Amino acid sequence: MARRRQLYEGKAKILFEGPEPGTLVQYFKDDATAFNSQKKGTITGKGVLNNRISEYLMLRLGEIGVPTHFVRRLNMREQLIREVEIIPIEVVVRNVAAGSLSKRLGIPEGTRLPRSIIEYYYKNAALENPMVGEEHITAFGWAGTQDMDDMVALTLRINDFLTGLFLGVGITLVDFKVEFGRLYENDDMRIVLADELSPDNCRLWDSKTNEKMDKDRFRRDLGKVEEAYQEVARRLGILPEAGIRDLKGPELMQ
Ligand code: TMP
Repeated sequence: MARRRQLYEGKAKILFEGPEPGTLVQYFKDDATAFNSQKKGTITGKGVLNNRISEYLMLRLGEIGVPTHFVRRLNMREQLIREVEIIPIEVVVRNVAAGSLSKRLGIPEGTRLPRSIIEYYYKNAALENPMVGEEHITAFGWAGTQDMDDMVALTLRINDFLTGLFLGVGITLVDFKVEFGRLYENDDMRIVLADELSPDNCRLWDSKTNEKMDKDRFRRDLGKVEEAYQEVARRLGILPEAGIRDLKGPELMQ
């Protein structure tokens, strides 16, 4: 395989120059961090599973008309994506109280929210991704009012669709985080779903037992982390044919 230029290394992924202009290769690592990188670890096979899970969810969303950056999976750990200008906002949707919402507002984890709640966090590691309001986002020019309208409309559709999709496989979609990017085509600009959708950035609970099947198992040292990611992939019907021992996948070539 030809050597590719690395453009960016994040906590869980690496971006490489793509094979043609306007494309990138997104490589999924097994590295896991939590609490703004204070906690670090490895979840063996996570990159392989998240590559598959994110591919699957973005393809399904594409089928209902949600535009995404996903083009195609290249191998066990890599996917081809469209190059977008990332909007520096993490959009979080919550259906059930958990995590920082429960902590901040004293609402017990597991409380069903009266309606889905959207929150915004400014993507800035030095500031530890502070929560912000729409006023800050538009005043500081991180996104315009039209961008915000598009992001909210897409986020609500994503939430409705994924809630149903996961419920169908016995999983409650408690909350999740998405990121959007601006895709420039000719003279047009569209907001598209970017980054990834996986148990790294969703809270997924077994609908019967409320057992956690996501990165909270790592954040909270609950054990059986790898098994939880595998179980999500298995229920979605996309566990790689290769056995668990093969999940490490090919090594990164640089
Ligand atoms: P929170 O309860 O910690 O605010 O997290 C809400 C959701 O957002 C949860 O599904 C995990 C996800 N998330 C990320 O993907 N990245 C982050 O940096 C944080 C803090 C949360």
